[in-house]
Amino acid sequence: MQTLKDQILDLVGKYHREQSERPFVPGVTPLLASGAVLDENDRVALVEAALDMRIAAGVSSRRFEREFARYFGLRKAHLTNSGSSANLLALSALTSPQLEDMRLRPGDEVITVAAAFPTTVNPIVQNNLVPVFVDVELGTYNTTPERVADAIGPRTRAIMMAHSLGNPYAVREIAELATERGLFLIEDNCDAVGSTYEGKLTGTFGDLATVSFYPAHHITMGEGGCVLTDNMVLARVVESMRDWGRDCWCEPGEDNRCFKRFDQQLGTLPHGYDHKYIFSHVGYNLKSTDLQAALGVSQLGRIDEFGAARRRNWARMRAALDGVPGLLLPEPTPNSDPSWFGFVLTVLPDAGYTRRELVDFLESRRISTRRFFGGNLTRHPAFQDVRYRVSGDLRNSDLITEHTFWVGVYPGLTSEMIDYIAQSIRDFALRHTAVRAARP
Ligand SMILES: Cc1ncc(COP(=O)(O)O)c(C=O)c1O
Repeated sequence: MQTLKDQILDLVGKYHREQSERPFVPGVTPLLASGAVLDENDRVALVEAALDMRIAAGVSSRRFEREFARYFGLRKAHLTNSGSSANLLALSALTSPQLEDMRLRPGDEVITVAAAFPTTVNPIVQNNLVPVFVDVELGTYNTTPERVADAIGPRTRAIMMAHSLGNPYAVREIAELATERGLFLIEDNCDAVGSTYEGKLTGTFGDLATVSFYPAHHITMGEGGCVLTDNMVLARVVESMRDWGRDCWCEPGEDNRCFKRFDQQLGTLPHGYDHKYIFSHVGYNLKSTDLQAALGVSQLGRIDEFGAARRRNWARMRAALDGVPGLLLPEPTPNSDPSWFGFVLTVLPDAGYTRRELVDFLESRRISTRRFFGGNLTRHPAFQDVRYRVSGDLRNSDLITEHTFWVGVYPGLTSEMIDYIAQSIRDFALRHTAVRAARP
C-alpha cells in the first residue's frame, strides 16, 4: 500500500512532467545569462523536505555537507545561507583568537583583484582589514602569481580572490607563494565548481574555499553557500562563527557531545556554565535550512553533467566566434579546464562599434547580457571612503569596466540557442566593421 506521502510525491512528479517546455523561438524566447536547471527529482526532493517539515538544518544538511566535502576530497564543508555569507565566514575565521599569532588583526592587508564581485572583497573591509587591489589580465580575466607577489607588503597576511567566471587562476603557484610567504589563501570558488587546474579541482588548493548555490551557479539551492576546508582547526572556527559564535558543537537537538556540558570553566564564567551557551567567538547566524539542502543533495547528483554542458556550450560559442572582428575572445588559463560560468567578451576600443551598441542589439534579440560584475570595484560609490591600497595600476580593470560583458553558457541553453547567440554577435560585428571600412 502506498503511503499518503508516496502518493503526494508521485503526483509532484506527474505535475513536473506536465510542465511542458516551450519550443525555442529565436528573438522571442529569452536566452538567460544564467539560471537553474531543475528536474523532477529536484521538485520531489524539495516537496518531500516540506512534507517532513524539515525547516531548520537537519538530515539533508548533514548529508549535503558530507557528500560535497567528499566531492572535493576535503575534510569539511559547512553550509551557509549564501555565497556572500560563505565569504564573510571564511575571512572572519582567519581573525579568530584561536589562531593565536596567525590571526589577522585590524589593519592587516588582504590581496584581492579589483575587477570582481563585491562580496569577495567586502568581508575584508567588514573585518577592518585593508584590501590590496591588483589588476587582472585581459582574456583570462584573472590576475597572475607575479602581480600577487609584487603586491605583498609587510602587513600582508592573506590572499582572497575568485576564479573569474569559472576560469581558474594559476592557483597552484599562488598557493605555493602563499605558503612561502606565510599567507592564508581563500579561494572564492563560487563561479568555478568543477573547474580544474593541473587536473585538480579548484577550491582544494587554498586554506579555505567558498561556493554559492544561488540559481546562477553550477548547482543550486535557491539561496545558499558553503565553506570548505581540509584544516580541522579552521573548520571548528567556521562552524562556531556560523552558529552564533558558540563553543559547543552539538547538532540541533543533541546534548553533551563533549561529555562535559556542565563541567568546564571558560572565560570568566562560573564553573559548570552550560556549554551550549558558551560563546568563544563574536559570531553570526549564517545557517541554511534543510529545504535548501534537500534541493542541494538532489542537484549534486548532476554536477558532472552540468559541468560537461557548460564546457560544451562554451567550446561551441568559442569556435563560432573565432575570427570575429573587434572582439577579444576569452582564453582558459594555461593548464586549466574551466567549468565555465559565462562567456566573456571584450569589445576592443578600436572595434568600430561599442560594447553598448552590441549589448543593445543582443538585448533587443532577447539575449541577456551581464557586466563583468562590478568592473573596477574601487570606482563604485561604496568604495569611495574605504581604506585600500592599489598595487601597480588597474588599467585592465578600467578597460573591463568600459568594454567587457558576458553571455550565458549555462546548461539550460541548447546548441541551437548557443548558435543563435553566436550568430547574432557575429552578424552585428561583421556588419559594423563593414560599415566602418566603407566610410571614406
Ligand atoms: C565570485 C562570486 N563570489 C560570491 C558571490 C556571492 O554569492 P551569493 O549570491 O550566493 O551571495 C557571487 C555571486 O554571484 C560570485 O559571483
